[in-house]
Amino acid sequence: MRIFFCNDSRDLMDKLIINGGRPLDGAIRISGAKNAVLPILAGTLLAEGPVTVSNVPHLNDVTTTVSLLGRMGVDLVVDEKLNIEVDPQTIKEFCAPYELVKTMRASILVLGPLLARYGRAEVSLPGGCAIGSRPVDLHIKGLQAMGAEIDVQNGYILAKAKRLRGAKLVMDTVTVTGTENLLMAATLAEGETIIENAAREPEVVDLADFLNKMGAQISGAGTPTITVKGVDSLKGVRYRVLPDRIETGTYLVAAAITGGRIKVKDTDPKLLDSVIVKLRDAGAKITLGDDWIELDMQGRRPQAVTVKTAPYPAFPTDMQAQFTALNVVAEGTGSVTENVFENRFMHVQEMQRMGADVRVEGKTALTRGVKNLNGAQVMATDLRASASLIIAGLVANGETVVDRIYHIDRGYEAIEEKLSQLGGKIRRIAV
Ligand code: EPU
Repeated sequence: MRIFFCNDSRDLMDKLIINGGRPLDGAIRISGAKNAVLPILAGTLLAEGPVTVSNVPHLNDVTTTVSLLGRMGVDLVVDEKLNIEVDPQTIKEFCAPYELVKTMRASILVLGPLLARYGRAEVSLPGGCAIGSRPVDLHIKGLQAMGAEIDVQNGYILAKAKRLRGAKLVMDTVTVTGTENLLMAATLAEGETIIENAAREPEVVDLADFLNKMGAQISGAGTPTITVKGVDSLKGVRYRVLPDRIETGTYLVAAAITGGRIKVKDTDPKLLDSVIVKLRDAGAKITLGDDWIELDMQGRRPQAVTVKTAPYPAFPTDMQAQFTALNVVAEGTGSVTENVFENRFMHVQEMQRMGADVRVEGKTALTRGVKNLNGAQVMATDLRASASLIIAGLVANGETVVDRIYHIDRGYEAIEEKLSQLGGKIRRIAV
């Protein structure tokens, strides 16, 4: 049976209503990682046979990627367990249009695979973003160094190449999707590519594992130097996506902030070292298993922590908003410094409206913890900021209404169901 992802019935204007004040208690399962499944789905374009991807989270960003591949003519079958079978060989168009790229920047990830496998690509430039300027110059420079001819016209990156050539690429800045795009392009290039100052994020390693399973020859993923020996073709495979470390961390912070006790299952504790250190600093008792993490706050209020974001293995930018929420209700003064993106504190003003004592100085959100937040109507302009407001709502007195939750649906599978399972009072209303 062929089941296409259809547009999610959830409306863009849905809201979440949260009644705070209950400690979270219970167990949940963690979904597959958003930031791994997106490059892996783009990477299926490289194969010469069908690829099946499993442990796919039900997220709007996955729906957007499926739409993007579908618009190119790629055959996709999604089964009831959300395994996605992709047959890239039916491709007819090599374009990622503006309408899709503007809703999901990760669409840029088709650029490297299309160019490497089909010698051409037209991908809309992503443009500005709520959390920073986020250019893609390093993606383009890297592909040019591999022999691609690239023009930017009418807001589109127009790229072509006969066969890409291996090259030594020294990245000016550590970029996750930049590393992923170049890594995918290099798999089918002629000769050897070396990516220096590569991103070391677990999602880059997962993509490299996937590509190697298809027959690529990549070594060094997870270190700053990745070496790729180009091969002539890649074959179709089955691949299971790794667990979402940011979803994992988000639920752990939610439990910590409410003084609760939770077990998160089907995750990988090894990917969360920097986050676990900060949760322990906050006073959480944490027990680790092979694929689970238990956090117990024993009813206590967290201690404020100091957090500085940087590329992996340092503390992730995708967790700083959640730790700002923790700091605003913690005992003492805390600080969260954002070093990756220039404008990622949109949650701070919303938290102030809930009674938080928090201010931004330069790249740092400084907090003086208050005992109680008050529920309010809030909204956020990016995914992790939205998550931080939900978390704040779980500990606030009274009702918090989180608006514009389409951001949340991009990156958290069934968040209200998982939080309800943990005893949180949260419901979605359609407007
Ligand atoms: N940068 C450049 N030039 C480039 C590319 C990046 O200057 O060509 C700069 C960016 O402006 C930024 C820094 O490099 O200051 C790092 O950005 P990066 O390219 O690593 O970010 P990304 O690849 O666009 C991914 C995740 C983000 C996550 C960041 C950092 C995906 C699909 N997205 O974005 O995830 O915050 O890495 O870890 O993997 C999220 O999930 O909420 C999210 C935003």
